[in-house]
Amino acid sequence: MDIDKPWSGRFTAPTDAFVEDFTASVRFDHRLSEYDIMGSIAHAQMLAHVGVLTSAECSHIIEGLNDIQAEILCGDFKWSVALEDVHMNIESRLTQKIGVVGKKLHTGRSRNDQVATDIRLYLRHEIDLISTELTRLLTALVDVAEREADTIMPGFTHLQSAQPITFGHHTLAWCEMLLRDRARLEDCRKRVNTMPLGAAALAGTSYPIDRPFTAQRLGFDRCAENSLDAVSDRDFAIEFSATAAIIMMHLSLFSEELFLWSSAQFNFIMLSDAFCTGSSIMPQKKNPDVPELVRGKTGRVYGHLLSLLTLMKAQPLAYNKDNQEDKEPLFDTVDTLKGSLRVFADMIPNMQVQRDSMRAAAQRGFTTATDLADYLVGKGIAFRDAHEIVGKAVRYCLDKECDLDALSLEVFKSFTPLIDNDVYERLTLEGSIKARDHLGGTAPNQVRAAVQRLRHSL
Ligand code: ARG
Repeated sequence: MDIDKPWSGRFTAPTDAFVEDFTASVRFDHRLSEYDIMGSIAHAQMLAHVGVLTSAECSHIIEGLNDIQAEILCGDFKWSVALEDVHMNIESRLTQKIGVVGKKLHTGRSRNDQVATDIRLYLRHEIDLISTELTRLLTALVDVAEREADTIMPGFTHLQSAQPITFGHHTLAWCEMLLRDRARLEDCRKRVNTMPLGAAALAGTSYPIDRPFTAQRLGFDRCAENSLDAVSDRDFAIEFSATAAIIMMHLSLFSEELFLWSSAQFNFIMLSDAFCTGSSIMPQKKNPDVPELVRGKTGRVYGHLLSLLTLMKAQPLAYNKDNQEDKEPLFDTVDTLKGSLRVFADMIPNMQVQRDSMRAAAQRGFTTATDLADYLVGKGIAFRDAHEIVGKAVRYCLDKECDLDALSLEVFKSFTPLIDNDVYERLTLEGSIKARDHLGGTAPNQVRAAVQRLRHSL
């Protein structure tokens, strides 16, 4: 009987209708079609190169595959759930188009090494796109850092005003996180770019294949060393997802700050209208949807990482159907991450910085109290004692509801006679940031130097 499936030879009854639908992956893996065709072309060329196919057969196959690619691109291709997945859909169509030669394409290959190859080609491409978006965002941030190298704002610990910093310096902190993320992606790409083809189902194949030939055509850096591992390894996807989770974590904490700072209470930044929405009831509202949504989307990316880890944790070697479940989490991780980076890279250059508000906030909360303690250390007082004296001065100001720099020299001297007129300069915001003039410090010239170094590595 003809059950019309590429593997139906040993079957006597058709697949249960629901099982057919339940086990099919074509609804989502059709997204791999471009890479499936790319892999098939390289495989056919290799088969011709080693004499398993004639060059005429190989040309037929390549022509057929290119036509199929065109059909898919213009939306004419009819995907069939009965044909299970992207691989069998394309192979069936090839045979339909070019006849029996199409049936030779799968020589020395299995869907197991085929699918592993497809995902790696797909992910390699996506990693490059994601890296580009990341660099675009980094460039936008470095521009902000340079522009705001002298912009003073309060730096926080425990979300309490701590010490004055420059907004440029704060922006560079985000850059450092994203730079590490980009390095993690680059590192992950090295392991993604390994070719499973040739492993066939699990044990390799009896044909005289030339794996380096195929690898070179597909731009892989190396061939997987072990056929069992080649068809079962999904570490590369897990590693990517872990990197994606870290990037989303960074975008989320970044979002949290943008979100707080664009509130009326902080008023440190204004996001452009193009990146905000309004409320259907409250006419005055302008909501920072983009940072909120990115913060929210972080959850699904974390979830996908856990799905993939769990998917792999108890599988005996080699390929198991479980592995079909790697795709949806991976695809959604790629889409979510790419979208989040893109919207951030577009939003940051349009962000308005409310310099006066930032400065006014830095003026509140005794942010230069540490500078006063450092001043006393300069006069010969031990730091712990200086800390205690300044604590008392702050207490005094709290009672009088004034700032430290509003105290008269006479009052200052009542805390310690070592304080002189030069104290007032040390208590200014500018004095405070300028004093932190070392590698990694917040002084404007350090921020500018860091910007130059960063531009170099971008
Ligand atoms: N759709 C399958 C997957 O995504 C392709 C490999 C199927 N291999 C098999 N032996 N059933 O994993």
